[in-house]
Amino acid sequence: MSQATQKMITKPREMTDAYRKMVITLMDRQASREISTSEVFGQCLQFAPTVEDKLRLLRFAGEEVRHFKAIADLMAELGVDIDAYLKNRLPAGSRFTHDPANEQIHDWIEATLFNFFIDRAATFQLSEYVKGTYEPLARANRSIVAEEEGHQNFGEACLLELCKDPAVRAQFQARLKTWFVGAMRIFGRAGTPGNRYCLEVGLKTRDSGEIAAAWLDDVRPVLKRAGLRLPRREELDIDVPPQCNLSMG
Ligand SMILES: [Fe+2]
Ligand SMILES: [Fe+2]
Repeated sequence: MSQATQKMITKPREMTDAYRKMVITLMDRQASREISTSEVFGQCLQFAPTVEDKLRLLRFAGEEVRHFKAIADLMAELGVDIDAYLKNRLPAGSRFTHDPANEQIHDWIEATLFNFFIDRAATFQLSEYVKGTYEPLARANRSIVAEEEGHQNFGEACLLELCKDPAVRAQFQARLKTWFVGAMRIFGRAGTPGNRYCLEVGLKTRDSGEIAAAWLDDVRPVLKRAGLRLPRREELDIDVPPQCNLSMG
């Protein structure tokens, strides 16, 4: 069904139960990533090399809290208890990797890997919601995506600059898998019934596998310029959707 024939939903009372359940699921995932990203940016502050970088990270951390609030307000409208929600979740970086070892960012290389991979993946994922049929979520994400693009540009600039040093570049290559996998998790598994439902009702325009593949196509040329490569499929302990091209060609 094309988007043109899909019904826009502007009010909670216009939703079916299934639609409401899916919207809450999508917003739950987004909101937890937004608040965790703000916590990670707060941790990165101590490693930022210049005053300008520290100020920029502070701004990013504040923007992420406001992204959280924009989505949390929509969740509250649908009956979610946000205070309880905030208490019951994976903090900071562990939200992305499900590994308590990633609750802390340890240095500027890791900060840059997080910023480069996670904010760009967020831009791709949230751009889907901008085109989606839940109008309040689409509207909230229009301004969120504009700010995410600013975050991803900073991550890219830092990555390219730092990788000019071959020794630092080797560290980036050795350590990039953690945050690459964290970013891949944002898209979710491909071809699931949930994906099919989102496509049917227009909450997304593409399956998770296609979104991840588009993100990879955007990441690849930047890694090439930095002298880095994507992880190989056999190095990864996650299911990589078949549409995804991990080659550097
Ligand atoms: Fe965000
Ligand atoms: Fe961001």
